[in-house]
Amino acid sequence: MVQTNVVRATMKSSRVFTLILSIGFVSIIPQVMPLPSDCVCDLNNIETPFPHNKLRTVETRASTCNRNITPQQSTEVEIMLLGLDRRLPRLEADIALLEKEDDGDLFGTVSLQVIQQERAEILQLINKLNSTTFNYQRLNRETTQEVNELKNEIEALEKFDTMDVVKGLEVNKRLKRDLDQCQNGHHPTDPPPEPAPGNCPLGRLQNVTGPNTYSATEYGGSYTYGSWGRDPKPAAGKESWFWMVPLTVSNVFSNFVRLYSSLSSVVVGVSVPGTVAISPSNPTTNTIQGPNVVMYQDSLYYNCYNRDAVCRSDIPLKTVTSVALPGGTGFNSKYNFCHLDSCYGYTDMDLATDESGVWVIYATAGNFGNLVLSEVIPGSPPTLGRTWNTSAHKRAVTNTFVACGVLYATRYLGKEAEEIFYSFDTVTGRERYNIGIQLRKMSTNIQSLNYSPVDHMLYAYSDSMIVSYQVHFV
Ligand SMILES: *[C@@H]1O[C@H](CO)[C@@H](O)[C@H](O)[C@H]1NC(C)=O
Ligand SMILES: *[C@@H]1O[C@H](CO)[C@@H](O)[C@H](O)[C@H]1NC(C)=O
Ligand SMILES: *[C@@H]1O[C@H](CO)[C@@H](O)[C@H](O)[C@H]1NC(C)=O
Repeated sequence: MVQTNVVRATMKSSRVFTLILSIGFVSIIPQVMPLPSDCVCDLNNIETPFPHNKLRTVETRASTCNRNITPQQSTEVEIMLLGLDRRLPRLEADIALLEKEDDGDLFGTVSLQVIQQERAEILQLINKLNSTTFNYQRLNRETTQEVNELKNEIEALEKFDTMDVVKGLEVNKRLKRDLDQCQNGHHPTDPPPEPAPGNCPLGRLQNVTGPNTYSATEYGGSYTYGSWGRDPKPAAGKESWFWMVPLTVSNVFSNFVRLYSSLSSVVVGVSVPGTVAISPSNPTTNTIQGPNVVMYQDSLYYNCYNRDAVCRSDIPLKTVTSVALPGGTGFNSKYNFCHLDSCYGYTDMDLATDESGVWVIYATAGNFGNLVLSEVIPGSPPTLGRTWNTSAHKRAVTNTFVACGVLYATRYLGKEAEEIFYSFDTVTGRERYNIGIQLRKMSTNIQSLNYSPVDHMLYAYSDSMIVSYQVHFV
């Protein structure tokens, strides 16, 4: 009887100690002191110690692996593929048009140049794509091997999990998740609701209605190019003011802005308080170049004369400062807004305003003539904030504007309609080519288009007429 008890105690204690030892990862042969009842235990740790160092190495290698392939890299390839996907059909369409224009021996030279340029850029894009994917393939091969090795190591480590501790934790996690879902009435089969794009609570841009305003300017039909709108952050007392900049020299330059105390003053053409000069003559240093101008915090932002730079003219102080755009930025009609029939001259840079401030949209050789978006941080001089490369080709776009941190681009559908077809969300980096919102046009061309966060209107300058549209969000 006594003998049996001793044996039992030995077995029991041995298991308990073994378990404790395999959790504690120490390898000792414990000496158990004899109990008062003279019961003797002889314990042996039969487990190998847990290889802590090995686990740490595996963890380090796994995190290196994660760093090697980032979501940004796959996004880069995706953007390039998307760009190609959009531009090949466009090249095809342009070539078809060129063939139609062929009147026997005279090709439309302008179209031919556009096509040659497009072709060169597509080739560049393909080369970049090839070299990028080539690098990623190599990275992928290395990563696959690394992942396989890690898998083997982990399997080896699992053998040490004799207590099923890890498995137990997994089961607990699953149970906890199920419980949470149950409590919150969450049904895992429901797709998560799509967050509103951009960074403001207005929601998704659903539709554009109008025109609300459609009027000649005080200059009648004199100036085809220009822009107008409202200052989203006006100085006190100027809340209802409007501004207009007609390009008075060659459809390219202007050296003043006209100010109006209300919308009806713009429509009846009574400019009070009147003209503010931006530069002494026209054109010269600091002259406004191109139609895509905006007003923000009592300053006019525009493409500086003959430079790849954004100028800021402080209206009350009458000073002009500027910030240069990145190297390779197009100016002097290198990367214009275009449609099939023609390009809008000197529209390389498009200034925009939204809820968060001022933006500039342009194109660079480095990004293959595709749209690039930068924040403009107001100041004297202004500076550039964050920048994003997109896959939308600038010359395939007629205009851009920014609303709630989302860049939108339009294209020409016909004489009666323009379409907001593209968006780039600066919060998620997501691009879409299927926006499909139409703008009803009153005349063929829209030379400038800008969003006003104050009243959620789009202000357009269209063949010397001023037009506005209401933007609806849901
Ligand atoms: C793609 O890139 C690789 C590596 O740079 C090069 O060897 C290969 O010739 C390229 N292929 C094409 C079609 O350009
Ligand atoms: C957008 O507005 C137009 C014009 O008011 C209307 O005909 C159309 O149904 C609207 N579309 C949506 C999706 O609301
Ligand atoms: C945009 O692309 C150019 C050319 O590849 C590159 O130099 C630049 O760093 C890119 N900018 C961003 C913000 O990714």
